[in-house]
Amino acid sequence: MKNKALRFDILTIFPGMFSCYLDESMMKRAKARKLIDIRVHDLRAWATSKHRQVDDRLFGGGPGMLLKVEPIYRALKALKALKSKAKKRPYVVLLSPRGTRFTQRVAERLVKRDRIVFVCGRYEGVDQRVTDHLVDEEISIGDFVLTGGELPAMTVIDAVARLVPGVVGKEASIVEESHSAEGFIEHPQYTRPERFSPKKGVHWDVPEVLLSGDHKKIAEWRLKNAKRAA
Ligand SMILES: C[S@@+](CC[C@H](N)C(=O)[O-])C[C@H]1O[C@@H](n2cnc3c(N)ncnc32)[C@H](O)[C@@H]1O
Repeated sequence: MKNKALRFDILTIFPGMFSCYLDESMMKRAKARKLIDIRVHDLRAWATSKHRQVDDRLFGGGPGMLLKVEPIYRALKALKALKSKAKKRPYVVLLSPRGTRFTQRVAERLVKRDRIVFVCGRYEGVDQRVTDHLVDEEISIGDFVLTGGELPAMTVIDAVARLVPGVVGKEASIVEESHSAEGFIEHPQYTRPERFSPKKGVHWDVPEVLLSGDHKKIAEWRLKNAKRAA
């Protein structure tokens, strides 16, 4: 087990969006137990202009605005995350619909890092020079376009954080989960009551084998009912 908390730094122009999610439930407990350390930074703190402007119009024309390269450069410099030979440098991820598709495998790769910086885009996205010179990887959470990188950052952080030993109650529950074995979706699961009757004469029963106490048979049933992911 790592003895230092896995640290996430988030660069965003909407820092307020994170507290409602990160200060509840699993994230709150993981932070309190110092298993993860999450720091949210307002990108505007590194703006160079008087009005703390972090976006500008597109060269060549076109609708919308782009996040500028300078504030992101300054922020990454302050977080000691600029590309260099330093071994201890944080890993920098840009959330982008053009990036590598986020999967459980990517989460398993990211949890091995000590520190990850997430850059959240907004508007039309970010200046291409950020991708070309400042980030290690672009990650997409799916083939759709959201308004900003904040929800994708929270999605990635959630999936990575629950792989940190101790964050999820029973370690076994993450080992047997969907996607933890290549290409598999977890078997169906049931809890009480054994029989649910939504109306007279209609019964939704739990498969008998799960109530049998026969662990070998239960394991076989689960294996048989774990589906191959599409
Ligand atoms: C409106 S989007 C920009 C879309 C961009 N103009 C394009 O067509 O690729 C603004 C920001 O939201 C974030 N974003 C949107 N969809 C995303 C996705 N599927 N995965 C990761 N980030 C996403 C990115 O940070 C992006 O820079």
